Amino acid sequence: MNVPNLLVKGFRYFLRCSRSGVIFLIRSVLGLPYPISVKRREMKKIPPGDGPETFDQPEAIEINHARMTHLASLGLPLAGKRVLDVGCGVGHLAQFFVNRSCEVVCVDARPENIARLRQLYPDLEAHVANVETEPLLRFGTFDIVFSYGLLYHLESPLAALRNIVPVCHEMLLLETMVCDHTLPILRIEDETKTFSQALRGIGCRPSPSYLMLVLNRVGFEFVYAPKTRPEHRDFKFQWRSNLDSWRNNHPLRCIFIASKTKLQNPNLVDVLL
Ligand SMILES: C[S@@+](CC[C@H](N)C(=O)[O-])C[C@H]1O[C@@H](n2cnc3c(N)ncnc32)[C@H](O)[C@@H]1O
Repeated sequence: MNVPNLLVKGFRYFLRCSRSGVIFLIRSVLGLPYPISVKRREMKKIPPGDGPETFDQPEAIEINHARMTHLASLGLPLAGKRVLDVGCGVGHLAQFFVNRSCEVVCVDARPENIARLRQLYPDLEAHVANVETEPLLRFGTFDIVFSYGLLYHLESPLAALRNIVPVCHEMLLLETMVCDHTLPILRIEDETKTFSQALRGIGCRPSPSYLMLVLNRVGFEFVYAPKTRPEHRDFKFQWRSNLDSWRNNHPLRCIFIASKTKLQNPNLVDVLL
């Protein structure tokens, strides 16, 4: 292979490996001082997304089935508990707890989702509240806080977790998208206006270590990971510590059980060192 070909190949490889690196290089040549790769975006110009019907799409039904079958398989003592479902959407997942004779309270920041929940499940107690800014204590206290699919749609996940701690007596059941890294890192991501997404267009992708650090420091002495993963492609991936939050066209997701007391459960691994 001749030298120009080699150079072209090398440059292509560099482009593939390091898009933000290339942007930084170009901007450095232009005299710009920081390694920034953020494009301008105006929230007003982002098209409206899907409404509450988004919770009934086939993909949502598929992942809901996988997540709740997995939760049932963990053998946690959930029957008859008082449960807060934070970021409940239209209340589909709360049915898992209703079917186990739990006393369930649902909270979501979008009035449209709560209105739809009330049509679908008129007996379910539900409230509109932003978990990042409005105290959850006004809804009482709970044995279990359930939060699947919410955390990565928050711009301030730490504020939300601090809000959850005082209302939670026993366990927080947490499912979230993550970014693949060993350090405690929080990636910030743009999101659409669809009703299952971030409220104001900014979400986050925490690394598992970020979650461990924050869950422990805000008040959960014990944090566990299930030994098994839900039977769904979003949960089945190898760790690479490369900051990915998507791989092979699907998001990377994890489940954690944060607890105020030590749990003796053969299906869980204590993940704090
Ligand atoms: C992906 S959906 C998850 C719904 C349901 N938990 C599930 O897993 O199917 C995320 C939900 O969180 C709600 N949400 C987003 N930001 C919120 C906030 N700051 N406070 C409360 N709910 C929020 C959205 O309106 C949406 O209904």
